Amino acid sequence: MSSCAAVTAPTTGPPLPPSASRLPQTAQLDALLTIIRNKDTPRSDFIFYSDRIIRLLVEEGLNHLPTLPKTVQTPTGMPYDGVSFEGRICGVSILRAGEAMEQGLRECCRSVRIGKILIQRDEETAQPKLFYAKLPEDIADRWVLLLDPMLATGGSALKAIEVLTDHGVKKERILFLNLIASPEGLQNMWTKYPQVRVISAWVDEKLDDKSYIIPGLGDYGDRYYSG
Ligand code: URA
Repeated sequence: MSSCAAVTAPTTGPPLPPSASRLPQTAQLDALLTIIRNKDTPRSDFIFYSDRIIRLLVEEGLNHLPTLPKTVQTPTGMPYDGVSFEGRICGVSILRAGEAMEQGLRECCRSVRIGKILIQRDEETAQPKLFYAKLPEDIADRWVLLLDPMLATGGSALKAIEVLTDHGVKKERILFLNLIASPEGLQNMWTKYPQVRVISAWVDEKLDDKSYIIPGLGDYGDRYYSG
């Protein structure tokens, strides 16, 4: 027997650190995530439905930006006392999987500047190492939406934030958007960069011994780019 759709999906798990927030845990969001978590979902559907979640994440990220009062005249001849965004933004994707989030940002923010950062594990030290960064030259004056779909240990994101702050970005102007976070990754972010806000669609249970998020969805980049 089918039942009426619940508006809110049940949320479980430990409380989040103060820097972390989740999208509203609706049944719709849970349904979108269920599709992309399913190992049998074909690549085209994986892309379509994760793009929908990315769009929700970007919209939520934009809700965190400051605004200033702004009055406009409407065609009725009357003024409307509204607001406009105070600062300029840019996106920075952490390669490779973060690139999958760029289109969702472009759909919400016309002509948005987007930088890229490539971080890989240093074979000698086993630490995340910066291999490549191309960032807008005026990034220090911008709010940054940092894009990476999966927050596992947080190693790459922490390194990316170090790169951004080395380029003059204020920590409180970084919003890190991801689809699925682990509690361990959120805790690591909070411990090192409590000023950086982290917005996740969902927070999962834990990491496994290979640092995959459980239950997660597997390797996001493989599923988005290779099917
Ligand atoms: N990156 C992924 O793509 N998946 C995980 O589970 C963890 C990191």
